[in-house]
Amino acid sequence: MPMITKIIIDKKGNINYYKKGDFHSLFGVLKEKDIKSGIVKSNIDKEFLVFDANFVDNIHEIKRGPATSHEKDIGLIIATTGIGLNSNVVDAGSGCGKLAAYLSKISCNVTSYEINNEFYEIAKQNIENLKLKVKLKNKNIYEGIEEKDLDLIMLDLLEPWKVTDHANKSLKSGAFLVAYLPTITQVIDFVKSLEDKFYIWKVSEVLEREWSVEGLKVRPKNQMLGHTAFLVFTRKI
Ligand SMILES: C[S@@+](CC[C@H](N)C(=O)[O-])C[C@H]1O[C@@H](n2cnc3c(N)ncnc32)[C@H](O)[C@@H]1O
Repeated sequence: MPMITKIIIDKKGNINYYKKGDFHSLFGVLKEKDIKSGIVKSNIDKEFLVFDANFVDNIHEIKRGPATSHEKDIGLIIATTGIGLNSNVVDAGSGCGKLAAYLSKISCNVTSYEINNEFYEIAKQNIENLKLKVKLKNKNIYEGIEEKDLDLIMLDLLEPWKVTDHANKSLKSGAFLVAYLPTITQVIDFVKSLEDKFYIWKVSEVLEREWSVEGLKVRPKNQMLGHTAFLVFTRKI
């Protein structure tokens, strides 16, 4: 699948993810040969802002399957767990591979488990298109984790408490087991399963408030993304 190569923004602030060919819009046509970074004019003399696309644009356009982890939460996961180039990470379930893709930008050793065949195929295609290295496994993580000496196990699935015992055998001491959970009842059940094997490092929810900055209209935007998930950070004792 071709990658997004440019971002094209019209006068109304509409953001377009451009791959190739001529670009058609309400504000006229841009010929492929004219689509270069900077200010570009259409055949009806309307201006567009053009710049190069990168990873965040391509991940925005990946094929979707189930609900994905949100960027605001992914940022906290990366910062809190401190994973780096040499960290060994297991992620589950892959979904469409979004969180696994972000983790693999930080660490080269990411393995992601996905039980559902259809989502596994979507994640495989997305990771390939993004030219990233993630070892995808079409497996049920509740049945066990083959990888050992892990620095992080990241769980975004319904019943993470079914992974606690496996995680205990696969993580290094002090390494993180993190659960991404939409409901507080899941948090309660997950925490119960930790027993004396894991220390609760922190439980958080990330609220991001975007602002409008247009002339004198400088204030928080009217709408805000509400709840995504609770993040339970635990460390193997
Ligand atoms: C909410 S999605 C994960 C989204 C992913 N974090 C992302 O950012 O794209 C949950 C995924 O977990 C998968 N899943 C559920 N139980 C699983 C299990 N026991 N083993 C592996 N994957 C599982 C589901 O099929 C689904 O694709």
